[in-house]
Amino acid sequence: MSVAGRRSSRPSKPTLTVVDLFAGCGGLSQGFRETGRFTPVGAVEHDLAAAATYAANFGEDHVYWGDIGEWVKGDLPDADVVVGGPPCQGFSNLGAKRDDDERNDLWERYVDALVKIKPKAFLIENVDRFLKTRQFRSLLAEVEHGGMLSDYRLDFGVLRATDFGAAQLRKRAIVIGTHKSRDKILLPAGKVPQHEWQTVKDVLGGINPKVPARRTELPEGRTHEVFGKTVRGKYTADELHITRRYESISLQRFRKIPEGGNRFNLPDHLKAPCWIKHTSGSGDVMGRLVWDKPSVTIRTEFFKPEKGRYLHPDEHRALTHHEAARLQGFPDTFEWCGSKIEIARQIGNAVPVDLARALAQHIAEGLSGS
Ligand SMILES: C[S@@+](CC[C@H](N)C(=O)[O-])C[C@H]1O[C@@H](n2cnc3c(N)ncnc32)[C@H](O)[C@@H]1O
Repeated sequence: MSVAGRRSSRPSKPTLTVVDLFAGCGGLSQGFRETGRFTPVGAVEHDLAAAATYAANFGEDHVYWGDIGEWVKGDLPDADVVVGGPPCQGFSNLGAKRDDDERNDLWERYVDALVKIKPKAFLIENVDRFLKTRQFRSLLAEVEHGGMLSDYRLDFGVLRATDFGAAQLRKRAIVIGTHKSRDKILLPAGKVPQHEWQTVKDVLGGINPKVPARRTELPEGRTHEVFGKTVRGKYTADELHITRRYESISLQRFRKIPEGGNRFNLPDHLKAPCWIKHTSGSGDVMGRLVWDKPSVTIRTEFFKPEKGRYLHPDEHRALTHHEAARLQGFPDTFEWCGSKIEIARQIGNAVPVDLARALAQHIAEGLSGS
């Protein structure tokens, strides 16, 4: 089934509610919604463009555009499940009282939200190294006797998005907390064996690879009002199929890099001076994707070939925003708001929708006892 087709089915009657903290554009919420079992009843995001994208796709009514520290002081919605993870740069000690460390507050506010909402379950997602941080150890301490989350039990680990249907080798640390009044929900096992992993071809195959050369910008002059502000967009998936104007030296380099190749394929006269000195190091710099394999992790600068393995498998350009959104599992019906850079950040920051959907399905089954 096509990617777009696979995601369009919506089973009936959502019976569970979900709040998405640090919602970004809503990758997690999209996965939860696609199960047909969850209705989003709250979302918090302080970046205007990201909050606008979320609102465009899930409705403005339940979105708090602003700082989680303010939101958590108000009346919070009831929810069966709370999802989201404080951003990874916020790693510092939960227990340490350092009022000058604003990022430290994010974890405290997250825990405050859980304590106030008292969901049946919660889901934290973060970068894979999260499980090795002091913040994670502090989280473990909070679920011990006398801790703020002592009503919950945790299961955690690192999951790979390909094992849950994504065409992307992205790894995320996942923590599932379950209220003690219920059977503990364990992390799901991967469902897709390696020989059945989705590939770049499966996901991008249906897109016309040729981007018209003049398509380097989002459509001009399109704005709309949201949260009382004027925001760029909304843009469709097709309108995100935009390339960049490359220097001649870049195009010469791209032509020398075969499918699966990288900067090491370049003759010396096309190498940047720093690459000549560094003959080891990342094989992903100036890398080209492979049609028959999953993609590498799509980060926020996927449109810059020098930042990773982001060259199209056979076009002489990096991925377009449309292609990156597909690799992250977003349906073509998803609408986007903001500048090119803001939208790229939303796409790269998102949890792959396939992984989110599998986690949501698993949590829904855990809560219904099936
Ligand atoms: C990794 S992204 C979330 C991605 C999201 N889970 C998804 O799947 O699309 C983290 C988000 O937290 C937001 N954020 C950071 N600090 C915040 C704060 N103090 N209050 C609200 N949102 C915040 C950032 O703007 C960013 O969009």
